[in-house]
Amino acid sequence: MGLKNLLTLKNLSKSQIEKIIDLGLEFKKGKSYQTLTPTFYCPVFLEPSTRTMLSFETAAKKLGLKTLNFNPGHSSTLKGETLYDTLKTIESMGTKVAVVRLKQEGILGEIAEQLDMKIVNAGEGTREHPTQALLDAMTIYDHFGRLENLTVSIIGDIKHSRVASSFVDLYKNFEGKLNLFSPPEFGEFDHEFKNPDFEECLKNSDVVMLLRNQLERHEKTFITSEDYNLKYGMTLERLKQTKKNAIIMHPGPFNRGVELDSEILNDPKIKIWDQVTNGVYARMAVLSEVFNG
Ligand code: CP
Repeated sequence: MGLKNLLTLKNLSKSQIEKIIDLGLEFKKGKSYQTLTPTFYCPVFLEPSTRTMLSFETAAKKLGLKTLNFNPGHSSTLKGETLYDTLKTIESMGTKVAVVRLKQEGILGEIAEQLDMKIVNAGEGTREHPTQALLDAMTIYDHFGRLENLTVSIIGDIKHSRVASSFVDLYKNFEGKLNLFSPPEFGEFDHEFKNPDFEECLKNSDVVMLLRNQLERHEKTFITSEDYNLKYGMTLERLKQTKKNAIIMHPGPFNRGVELDSEILNDPKIKIWDQVTNGVYARMAVLSEVFNG
């Protein structure tokens, strides 16, 4: 049984999550690609994207889907067309699935209910980025051979991060320890997994997940890039303090010299490029599950 849509991980069971990760890893190992009836697929990205948009497109092409070219800068969204009307227009042309990224929160689920076309959430405001969490979990599983009994620390701009929010939704299903460290400069932060001890998160974690400072969602400067790097950036010195078998992740795009330094990018602990590669296979798995739902 596949999925009708993929809008959030909040309503996915542990076995559904594991199934997507397993399928993604099978695709990575070379499982046959031509699994779907050729049909139309449309990316609708109303916020910038490189990784998510192109990995969905790569995944769709590997699966034999035909991709439509939706350019928001030349679309009728600029003439005031609503998201529902845009998606209904795309559906009416015979498209079977749309992958949607948008800034506004809380409307995609309601719109998806009114459409026959399947909807996959490719990033929604500060709360949802389900396929990023799936590819991150796949990357962790690929390295450790398990998701259970690990300490995962997410460090950075958690309040504005849909990556962190969706990963929390996913990791709640597994027996592991989750730490969320948000620099105090970003202001009040309360969460069941809050850990205010940066040193502990750095030194005792199997997975250190760094986040981008989401300046486009900030109303003011909380901390300068230089100070952020000085206090919380993954420098060579801090990398040496992490556990011997720890891995360092970042969803990208990353800011060199802010969340992490250029000189550590080729260290074997850094899994950023593996995350990008796994994004293609995780999204192939998601598209397969959605088409089979
Ligand atoms: N991680 C991520 O969502 O990257 P893009 O914004 O480039 O898609």
